[in-house]
Amino acid sequence: MKHAAVLGTGSCLPERVLTNYDLEKLVETSDEWITSRTGIQGRRIAVKGEETFKLASVAARRALESAKLKAEELDLIVVATITPHKIMPSCACFVQAEIGATNAFAYDLNAACSGFLYGLDLADKYILSKPDMKILLIGAENLSSRVNWQDRNTCILFGDGAGACILSSRTSGKGVIDSNLFSDGTLWKLLHMDSPKSLNKDLVQEDAKGCFIQMSGQDVFKYAVRAMEDAVSGLLDRHSINVNDITMLIPHQANVRILNKLMDRLGFNKEKVFVNVNKYGNTSAASIPIALDEASRQGVIKHDDLLLFCSFGGGFTWGALLMHW
Ligand code: ACO
Repeated sequence: MKHAAVLGTGSCLPERVLTNYDLEKLVETSDEWITSRTGIQGRRIAVKGEETFKLASVAARRALESAKLKAEELDLIVVATITPHKIMPSCACFVQAEIGATNAFAYDLNAACSGFLYGLDLADKYILSKPDMKILLIGAENLSSRVNWQDRNTCILFGDGAGACILSSRTSGKGVIDSNLFSDGTLWKLLHMDSPKSLNKDLVQEDAKGCFIQMSGQDVFKYAVRAMEDAVSGLLDRHSINVNDITMLIPHQANVRILNKLMDRLGFNKEKVFVNVNKYGNTSAASIPIALDEASRQGVIKHDDLLLFCSFGGGFTWGALLMHW
């Protein structure tokens, strides 16, 4: 059986940096508080011309270049996002047009911060049935457009960006090994973002606060650690893999404290965790592919490495995935 392997990666971050010191001017907070509670020091903010699909398209072109593929060779484009610039058409269709992927079908996937992980699992299933398929998987977000900039509980956390990878089967047999994915929709209230106000007066939610991210931070923290621990342990047990056998963990970049707690509970060596949340904040579905692209370009991950991915986000959605690089 041939699984999905990564042929190339790319990413795109807006130029504009918003530091903790900049946030001190917006809300009652401090660099010391944000750094000590989250590990975040800066995040990137999209400006005019940097809509989600534009960031996604730049990341896609870079991924195609590193995979030495032409856009016309793509069969499928999937964009994991919760912040497309339009609800219809999908962000993926805009990317398809922007890069000229004339032979690809395209659609979006919404699984919040777990979107890219769900997308990897999906791509693997396509490739298991059609090994020659060339899939462009992107995680792209413009979260700055959905943040309440007066709410210090949330506005310190999020940033914009996009990451992409090209997936297909490889003759060497490397690629996705297995995944362990979960959702629990009963807990939606702990982390959610309303749609724009309904135009059907019967369906208007009178208690809606606005279409920005709302979160119960402490609950999310608790669930995130426990859920990712269970997903990772279950996956490693299934394959009789010890945590020490993992070369590198590339987790969703939400918060350094969440990651430290998770590492302690798993007994995982913190030096084997790729972290860039300090530079970009939480970019939801974009965080894992941006981290993967950086890890690959910096030479931190090498051919034959055993990679572990894990994520947690709104839904709740969470999971873990193992890959032979
Ligand atoms: N600056 C200064 N003070 C603040 C800020 C801020 N930005 N935000 C909250 N505070 C205050 C609170 O008002 C509170 O004050 P009080 O004691 O006078 O009432 C105090 O700091 C402590 O507040 P807590 O909410 O208990 O702070 P906590 O240590 O839990 O940190 C945080 C908050 C950073 C949001 C944390 O709960 C967290 O990281 N949760 C996970 C959330 C997350 O990562 N969400 C992303 C989406 S899901 C995902 O990607 C995994």
